Amino acid sequence: AKLLTLLCIISDNLLTKWRSPAAVPDRCQGIEMDAVTVNEDGIPYFFHSGFLFKGFHGAAERANETFTELDEHQHLGHVDAAFRLHYEDHPTEHNNIIFFLDTQIFSYYQHKLEGGYPKNISEVYPGIPDHLDAAVECPKPECEEDSVIFFKGDEIFHFNFKTKAVEMKEFTSMPNCTSAFRFMEHYYCFHGHNFSKFDPKTGEVHGRYPKEARDFFMRCSKFSDDSDHVERERCSRAHLDAITADNEGDMFAFRGQSFICKEVNDTLKVEPIELTFKEVKSDVDAAFTFKDDLYLVKDEHVFAYRVGENHTLLDGYPKTVKEELGIEGPIDSAFSCDEHQHVHVVKGQLMYDVDMAASERNATNERSIMFPSDAAMCGPRGVTLVKGNHFYHFDTLKLLFSRAVPERHQVSLELFGCDH
Ligand SMILES: *[C@@H]1O[C@H](CO)[C@@H](O)[C@H](O)[C@H]1NC(C)=O
Ligand SMILES: *[C@@H]1O[C@H](CO)[C@@H](O)[C@H](O)[C@H]1NC(C)=O
Ligand SMILES: *[C@@H]1O[C@H](CO)[C@@H](O)[C@H](O)[C@H]1NC(C)=O
Ligand SMILES: *[C@@H]1O[C@H](CO)[C@@H](O)[C@H](O)[C@H]1NC(C)=O
Ligand SMILES: *[C@@H]1O[C@H](CO)[C@@H](O)[C@H](O)[C@H]1NC(C)=O
Ligand SMILES: *[C@@H]1O[C@H](CO)[C@@H](O)[C@H](O)[C@H]1NC(C)=O
Ligand SMILES: *[C@@H]1O[C@H](CO)[C@@H](O)[C@H](O)[C@H]1NC(C)=O
Repeated sequence: AKLLTLLCIISDNLLTKWRSPAAVPDRCQGIEMDAVTVNEDGIPYFFHSGFLFKGFHGAAERANETFTELDEHQHLGHVDAAFRLHYEDHPTEHNNIIFFLDTQIFSYYQHKLEGGYPKNISEVYPGIPDHLDAAVECPKPECEEDSVIFFKGDEIFHFNFKTKAVEMKEFTSMPNCTSAFRFMEHYYCFHGHNFSKFDPKTGEVHGRYPKEARDFFMRCSKFSDDSDHVERERCSRAHLDAITADNEGDMFAFRGQSFICKEVNDTLKVEPIELTFKEVKSDVDAAFTFKDDLYLVKDEHVFAYRVGENHTLLDGYPKTVKEELGIEGPIDSAFSCDEHQHVHVVKGQLMYDVDMAASERNATNERSIMFPSDAAMCGPRGVTLVKGNHFYHFDTLKLLFSRAVPERHQVSLELFGCDH
């Protein structure tokens, strides 16, 4: 017993040591970000201490795994500010990711440090102070010229790339930003675990801000009673897991633990998945409607529901993906185009057809679609592919295999009617 007690003390100590200084942060606990930017592909990167969160959900990684030199030079363990440079007149730097650490600046392209970096901030951005709080790119015409907006305390500096002129601005309604972010041509100032959307030219904050960053920029399960779930899901930038529309035109979209139901008259309802589809609970991979029934696919299983006042699981379900769709799970998305026979299954960039009338199901007719997507649905008006916070509409199934990428739409604004 003594030995066991000793072991416990030792391992307790080890655990505290292991947990305390280097504890991996959880963004759903409401942490303040040091810096936020998008990478070259438009994926948001959130920095906190020495950690990096990629995208809108998922665990933290050490920032030095992606950006090796950031701590080799200074061992600071944090980034003050970051942005993606937008300066089309300078193609060699356009789209580089720029980091500010104390007095220095690091310029990366495709995760590689550019030659000659780090440099002093004063060398590259004369007139801009060291030890910044936040920075965000502001291309024209969102700002009058291609510029960067820098934040330090309550001071705001507009740096014009072309003339290198620095203009001090007073953004009176703005809180002090700890990080700033341009996303989908909108500007956000993060402070604590809140954010405010601002006009980059005037610094004005319109509408009801601050809002909770976890509601819109992180995919966290319900963490407080006062968040407005409909507003949160409507305006969330986090990607959808699955989407489908039934024959009446009602749309069901699945994201994490919730699903959004949009009725034909545009009424939006948000419910926990586990309340309505209790066998599935959360994290759906794919959803499709076939002959009036709603099918949800999760990992290796397919669940079929008769939609009604209460949605009931059909007899014999769940079945395995292999048995139901003739392909090994997991899959990425599935949809049926009102043809009462086929379901199209998407896995990565490959699409297959499944003849649902066959007693032995087989996914055949393998072909490559335009790009991999998170979710897909089909209706009388064509196919919709959803990728990140964007969706693309194809008038016919055939167009999925062409090369002409259709116009990009925003999920939050155009599919769910969010106003910002
Ligand atoms: C990143 O930092 C951690 C903690 O300081 C260190 O243990 C690790 O070796 C570093 N990784 C790289 C790739 O530099
Ligand atoms: C950068 O700043 C440091 C410290 O102020 C100074 O010693 C150094 O000469 C500067 N480097 C350049 C290239 O200006
Ligand atoms: C904002 O920054 C200024 C310093 O520039 C400081 O005096 C002020 O207290 C800060 N405000 C808040 C709310 O932290
Ligand atoms: C965040 O915003 C809420 C109002 O939406 C406010 O009550 C709270 O004090 C803010 N917290 C921080 C840390 O800014
Ligand atoms: C939309 O339709 C649903 C049910 O069909 C109804 O409960 C709701 O009140 C309608 N909303 C509007 C704004 O018409
Ligand atoms: C649906 O479920 C509710 C609550 O469990 C129950 O009261 C109601 O009778 C059910 N309706 C049908 C049509 O089964
Ligand atoms: C599935 O289709 C492939 C290609 O058409 C065929 O080779 C295979 O035998 C079929 N499997 C079953 C179980 O029908």
